[in-house]
Amino acid sequence: EKAGYKHFMLKEIFEQPQAITNTVRGRINLETGEVVLPEITLGEEDLRAIERIYLVACGTSWHAALVAKYWIEKYAAIPVEVDIASEFRYRSLLVNERVLTLAISQSGETADTLAGIRRAARLGSKVITICNVVGSTMTREADGTIYTHAGPEIGVASTKAFIAQLAALFLFTLYLSQLKRSIPVEHRRRLGQHLIDSARVVQELLPKIREQIGTMIESFYQCRDFLFVGRGLNYPIALEGALKLKEISYIHAEGYAAGELKHGPIALIDKDMPVLAITPKDSVYQKTISNIEEIKARQGRLILIGTEGDTQLEKITEDVIYLPAVHEDLNPIIYTIPAQLLSYEIAVRRGCDVDQPRNLAKSVTVE
Ligand code: M6R
Repeated sequence: EKAGYKHFMLKEIFEQPQAITNTVRGRINLETGEVVLPEITLGEEDLRAIERIYLVACGTSWHAALVAKYWIEKYAAIPVEVDIASEFRYRSLLVNERVLTLAISQSGETADTLAGIRRAARLGSKVITICNVVGSTMTREADGTIYTHAGPEIGVASTKAFIAQLAALFLFTLYLSQLKRSIPVEHRRRLGQHLIDSARVVQELLPKIREQIGTMIESFYQCRDFLFVGRGLNYPIALEGALKLKEISYIHAEGYAAGELKHGPIALIDKDMPVLAITPKDSVYQKTISNIEEIKARQGRLILIGTEGDTQLEKITEDVIYLPAVHEDLNPIIYTIPAQLLSYEIAVRRGCDVDQPRNLAKSVTVE
């Protein structure tokens, strides 16, 4: 059932190209640039009238929501707020029928997220869910569902469901941009093409990165703490890397927006602190590099993940992982892979039960 893989988590990491392809298939026409999401039963008029969006989720699904905020605000020009479901369900909400609440959940059963959409619906919000489990409670209660077609996810640490959520959220962003006519059709068509192409990119990089990380972790797996940093769209990926590592290896790990380091966390940096920095050649590249220099000056043990051909990174540290250049907005899909594999390899090296970490359940159906 693990198809020759040692753990479900590893199998599921390697299933990610398929998860992207299956989630996107049939939903975007690459000749016309048209996006179709028929399971959203809300009328186009209702959706066009949406003035604000709440993205609500827990854990890894919340990280997908954080990425989506950047996409939706950029391409559909709708203000987005991202909430952790356990906060959303108890705080005062400014909700009416022109607000869309979008719940993101692999299981569709997470108690806090479910309570969140019930509350938003009672207050008059339209509700859509992005779910992986067909027929789950959230899909039955929402006004519409966008299924991620990642297939069953067994490992407690979410991997392929997250990548499929990102694909679904990017599609949904393109769909909103179509309804709102906020970007030209040709632009949407090209973005759709980039999304589809990302599956092939992930497919090609998986074995190579696994091998590289397998060697690299020998000098890192015994550490007590680990920081992950990134900027912009990759800040949520830093959070996701830290969550993955802490939940399966029990190493204390934190994710930070690189620009926040100087406001406190940089005090933690010394020669024993590993810092994985996401440094693609994107529009905030120079800014991230300045933050990295500050870490280096304090002897932090840097691992850099950047764009193929960027030799500047090798001057900063010997631990560099190169990923192919893709459209900047799709970097979160690509840069998640090394973070997942690093967590996996470290946890295995430490003898942890990666598929069934202590204290955790696959689906958190109690508050
Ligand atoms: O099923 P959901 O997506 O609603 O689950 C949300 C979180 O419980 C889940 O992502 C959790 O954080 C995972 N263990 C992360 O790997």
